[in-house]
Amino acid sequence: MERYKILFVCLGNICRSPAAQGVMQRMIDERGLTDRFYLDSAGTYGGHAGELPDRRMRVHAQQRGYTLTHRSRRVTGQDFEDFDLIVAMDASNRYNLENMAATVDETQKIVMMGDYIRHYQHYDHIPDPYYEGAEGFELVLNLLEDACEELLSQLV
Ligand code: 4NP
Repeated sequence: MERYKILFVCLGNICRSPAAQGVMQRMIDERGLTDRFYLDSAGTYGGHAGELPDRRMRVHAQQRGYTLTHRSRRVTGQDFEDFDLIVAMDASNRYNLENMAATVDETQKIVMMGDYIRHYQHYDHIPDPYYEGAEGFELVLNLLEDACEELLSQLV
């Protein structure tokens, strides 16, 4: 069976989207669904290409048992063909992705992570933690754990 391919996208691909990938991968593995999904992440801005996730993101993720080893890369046009679902962290990411999509089919692959948040009702997106303190990174992980749970439940 072909794996269902999900691409998580933020701005720099060093905070939110690699964390989303790590959270979702563990959820998939814990449920014995490893063979059914392929996950990756990318950024609309390529300035951090090749880098590991931001140290602060790695530290906060590691405290919850997520080891983030993804290397940052920029989103490409090919991603819109290769992936089944492209998950934007905020409205700016979605806007940039929509401008890259070549067809209606490709545009329809773009969804908002915020639409899957269930328990944190005051949030409709995953806020950029880059200029925030520790609480910003904890919030990102709380929101991602909540939203990934709902996203996965809708896919299986
Ligand atoms: P991310 O966070 O989009 O969650 O990876 C950011 C990373 C880098 C920058 C902004 C946000 N930056 O401006 O370099």
